[in-house]
Amino acid sequence: MKNNFSERRSNLAHKVLDDSAIIVASASVKSRISDTDYAYRQDSNFYYLSGYEEPESLILIRPNHDNEKFIIFCRDRDPLREQWDGFRTGQEGAISEYGADASYSINSVDQLMPELLKGSKNIYFSMSSPCGIDSKINHWIEDIRKNMRAGAEPPENLLSLDSILHEMRLIKEDRELDIMKHAADITTEAHIRAMQAVTPGMFEYQLEAEYLYAFNKNGARSPAYNSIVGGGNNSCILHYVENNAELKDGDLVLVDAGCEYQYYASDVTRTFPVNGKFSPEQKEIYTIVLEAHKQSIEQAQPGNKWNLMHEKSVEVLVEGLLSLGLLNGSKEENIEKGLYSKFYMHRIGHWLGMDVHDVGAYKKDGDWRELEKGMVMTIEPGIYILDSLKDVDDKWKGIGVRIEDNIVINDSGNEFLTPDVPRTIEEVEQTVQG
Ligand code: GLY
Ligand code: MN
Ligand code: MN
Repeated sequence: MKNNFSERRSNLAHKVLDDSAIIVASASVKSRISDTDYAYRQDSNFYYLSGYEEPESLILIRPNHDNEKFIIFCRDRDPLREQWDGFRTGQEGAISEYGADASYSINSVDQLMPELLKGSKNIYFSMSSPCGIDSKINHWIEDIRKNMRAGAEPPENLLSLDSILHEMRLIKEDRELDIMKHAADITTEAHIRAMQAVTPGMFEYQLEAEYLYAFNKNGARSPAYNSIVGGGNNSCILHYVENNAELKDGDLVLVDAGCEYQYYASDVTRTFPVNGKFSPEQKEIYTIVLEAHKQSIEQAQPGNKWNLMHEKSVEVLVEGLLSLGLLNGSKEENIEKGLYSKFYMHRIGHWLGMDVHDVGAYKKDGDWRELEKGMVMTIEPGIYILDSLKDVDDKWKGIGVRIEDNIVINDSGNEFLTPDVPRTIEEVEQTVQG
């Protein structure tokens, strides 16, 4: 499908004040050890507006200019460096392949930018994007000021681009949804593959390998975040990423793993029995979490406030924990005093998109915002019963369950991006038993 980068820049142009210039910098390269960098990943805001993937780049958008509305500063072509580090588009490619009206060497940015910003009353820049761009902008404005007596007019306002851009990114275009569905499909295949592979005695990292294989094999070059593969008590540690313990017969394993495909994330958790059969206690906990998952998703409707899904999850989880004797007292008291939080200590989910915890405000004017068509989110209730918890019967200890799916709000309700990841007890057991 045709890319929408220029359409996005036009949409953005309508949302900023007149006489504005918009500046976004690329992500920087991060060194891992000598001569070896972390895999480069372009900044999401930068990519969203340009599609340009090279580091040491910067875009300048000037909607009110007749020419040179969209400028890319980028690295120069360099045959020697390209032999070592890979192809560069250079300025010519930035124009021909990425639709820039003009392109200049990144080495000349300090020299050219003051001239290019002259006459723009407002400068928008992404505070959430990297590279210390704010201090560079201050230098460029300082250079314009030096020429005021010669008639130069420095910009008057420095403004954050983030709220405007993040609102755009929050509502997904059809093209973005197609990519996200593809990411979700790859992640679905990975979870099924892992469920079929798991067996007692395997190490958590070996199960992780099944995910990485399925991601890469299907064109997703990396996970969207560090995969969490926790067996037994490790399933209760929310950000467990050591993934180095042995998976034991009788334990559950919780896997929170999703791929990034063409800059879009998927984020799916499944919890399954290492030996293929849930124990009665594991089944009880799983059933409660699944019910919370189901009832929370019913709240994911256009016009409903974001918070309703979370409140529903708390209600269902508390009812379940009370029925098992893991909580005592009244439902109201447990909710009001947050007594459930030793078992459920995170919220129901988050926006999902180019970033796994995607951009976009959750509140507007102090109140939870309403859901709208095109918003993509995770739903991920869980119950975690750490070994070390006091006043808990031993039979529950070391059980951690989270069930996480990705949904998109549509006209009439919502749709799963991940409908086919085994979810019910029967589906999960059947898949693991293979
Ligand atoms: N994988 C991170 C999360 O579920 O939020
Ligand atoms: Mn997750
Ligand atoms: Mn998540």
